[in-house]
Amino acid sequence: METKNGSSFSGQIGFVLAAAGSAVGVGNLWRFPYLAAKDGGGLFLLVYLILILTFGFTLLTSDIAIGRKTKKSAIFAYEIMREKWRFLGILTFFVPVLIMTYYAVIGGWITKYFIVFITGQGRLAASDGYFTQFITSAQAPVFFSMFFMILTAFIVYNGVESGIEKCSKIVMPILLVMIVAIAVYSLTLTHTDGQGHLRTGIEGLQFYLTPNLEGLTLSQFMQVLLDAMSQLFFSLSVSMGIMITYGSYVKDDVDLNQAVGQIEVFDTLVAFLAGMMIIPSIYVFSGMEGMGSGPSLMFISLPKVFDAMGPIGTIVGIVFFLMAAFAALTSCISVLESIVANCMELFHTTRKKTTVFLSLFYCAASVVIALGYSLFYVEIPLPTGNTGQFLDVMDYISNSFMMPIISLLSCILIGWIVKPQWIIDEMEKSGHRFGRKKLYTVMIRYIAPVMMFILFLESTGLLERILE
Ligand code: PFF
Repeated sequence: METKNGSSFSGQIGFVLAAAGSAVGVGNLWRFPYLAAKDGGGLFLLVYLILILTFGFTLLTSDIAIGRKTKKSAIFAYEIMREKWRFLGILTFFVPVLIMTYYAVIGGWITKYFIVFITGQGRLAASDGYFTQFITSAQAPVFFSMFFMILTAFIVYNGVESGIEKCSKIVMPILLVMIVAIAVYSLTLTHTDGQGHLRTGIEGLQFYLTPNLEGLTLSQFMQVLLDAMSQLFFSLSVSMGIMITYGSYVKDDVDLNQAVGQIEVFDTLVAFLAGMMIIPSIYVFSGMEGMGSGPSLMFISLPKVFDAMGPIGTIVGIVFFLMAAFAALTSCISVLESIVANCMELFHTTRKKTTVFLSLFYCAASVVIALGYSLFYVEIPLPTGNTGQFLDVMDYISNSFMMPIISLLSCILIGWIVKPQWIIDEMEKSGHRFGRKKLYTVMIRYIAPVMMFILFLESTGLLERILE
């Protein structure tokens, strides 16, 4: 069967690198290391590894196989599976629709920091209040998010093979080399603090790798499990229709089993290396108290660490923010592509027209979100007990609320209605061996739905209330 609209990846490598590009994003860089540091180092790594090989593998396999089998994006793919389940396709479609409003804003922040470092102003970025001053200004964040949005749109506009695949084939290998280089460098760091204590990168590495089971209670272990689960879910870009869209561009002779394994390895390796790069650096220069998560880690703590490295910190900063920009760009591309692909199928429009229209829309949306820290500043209470600005609200609705529900429903659809054999047939197409077939069936029918339900309760704050 031809792939839809004649668009396809040229082969397995192109597909794996594009999918890995989607998977490797800011989540790998600013959340994985934080969770590993918080959740007992090696203990978290071990739990994460087991989950990625079972739970992550099940969700990723499902999405990619649905895409390739139906040759459609989420809305029509679910409709083909069962007409009455079109609603699930629509729900899935709305995840990237929401994520897209803020992903280019984050990409813009990263671009700004790259420019700051490459123009030799890294020291400035390390000063107190710099990040707050930047995001609360009404011009720079808007300018940089528009730039990032237009760059993303340009690549998507050029199509699957000559846009997305080409970009991923250049960017992803460079990203890997850069992260390995900084990770190795961070192991060589040493620093003597004010009290005369010498701290080394190797000690930081030990902290990262050693499983810390001290005083571990059952409820803490549950927390580690839930943290790892929500992280890998976001990290693999599953249950948001993106891997369905990318799967729809995969030719029938590609071995999906192998491809799924390679995507898992790539994503996990980058997350692991991010920890190896960030944890020792933070440990050496500020002790583990400096280990935050999200924007505060990337834009406040790390610039201080780079500054403390002395002159070489400028180079490390340049490489780090370029690498982060690459990670964000390939993820942002996948989000836009998934929206474009769904809209092309819905409205029978061309790629170019659809991309231009959606990009204009998202430029406007990005402006609103970027101004969410200045002109449109609000404090909206979230069910988790925190308050957030527009960006946090979009992130909360799409990731904490919608993704677990979508995953739960799609496990029910595949496991109990269309039946796992439907996916297995696709995985075994062209005579390929689906080695984890039994595991897949048990996971999709029994384990994944229960886990998704618990994750949903946790991320909406309901679990805490029930256990109170
Ligand atoms: N998987 C990416 C990460 O770990 O950062 C993020 C991501 C990409 C999220 C694409 C959502 C998305 F639609």
